[in-house]
Amino acid sequence: PIIYAITPTYARLVQKAELVRISQTFLHVKNFHWIVVEDSPVKTQLVSELLAQSGLRFTHLHTETPKEHKRKESDPNWLKPRGVEQRNLALQWLRENRELSEEGVVYFADDDNTYSLRLFDEVGAVRFGGKEWGSAEIRSTKRVSVWPVGLVGGLRFERPLVEKGRVVGFYTAWKPNRPFPMDMAGFAIALQLLLANREARFDLLAERGYLESSLLQSLVSIEELEPRADNCTKVLVWHTRSEKPKMKQEELLQKQGLGSDPSIEV
Ligand code: UGA
Ligand code: MN
Repeated sequence: PIIYAITPTYARLVQKAELVRISQTFLHVKNFHWIVVEDSPVKTQLVSELLAQSGLRFTHLHTETPKEHKRKESDPNWLKPRGVEQRNLALQWLRENRELSEEGVVYFADDDNTYSLRLFDEVGAVRFGGKEWGSAEIRSTKRVSVWPVGLVGGLRFERPLVEKGRVVGFYTAWKPNRPFPMDMAGFAIALQLLLANREARFDLLAERGYLESSLLQSLVSIEELEPRADNCTKVLVWHTRSEKPKMKQEELLQKQGLGSDPSIEV
């Protein structure tokens, strides 16, 4: 099966650095298709060129989050869900451009997380020191597969709890009563399941923390979840978040007409 990674992205100082970082991880993944959806009224030159030069198979889409749903600079970061319309557009693209007969797996890969190659299936015995665990983590997804996510929910990690190979609950502290108390980075969905359920999508109005549940609820039950990463005992993805760079000197220099050369892309 081919892995489709869906990445919403938006313009900010660290955007290029984030996209370079994850694109170079994805370059190591075989049979991979990157769907990048810009939160923007147009496809930007920065992202267009980055994708063209990435060496990856990709699809480049864009849709701007409606103003009333967009988080303002001053809003706390939990106020509104992010990347929702972008992920939904990617789902629509898959439904319009892929056949039910195609074997694929869909993963929502935010641009700021950190992904181990072991999450996919590139376990290469040589590269990883000969230990043969965890092959085909995401790629073998039948319906919905799940695994731990590091550095999320105010914990070292969140994870599904597994007994006798089945998910029986979740280790999480924040809003544990959510139907699927998991971060976006902690699950993958079979393409066929998404194509067969054409109405399944993320809810733009989902309450904080309920975005993941809004999609998963219409696709699976907890008992059907397929545990990965050694029965959910290994952390293979981290919910890292980049610090917003301080531009104090840049602003001071700009006031003196000495700001950095705007033709140099960062
Ligand atoms: C957490 C989850 O990990 C996200 O999957 C979830 O979408 C988000 O909460 C949420 O509550 O909506 P967090 O690190 O807080 O993530 O969110 P970001 O990484 O800032 O944004 C998630 C994705 O949406 C990123 O790929 C980001 O580039 C994109 N995004 C963010 C936009 O496309 N537009 C925006 O205005 C902001
Ligand atoms: Mn993030």
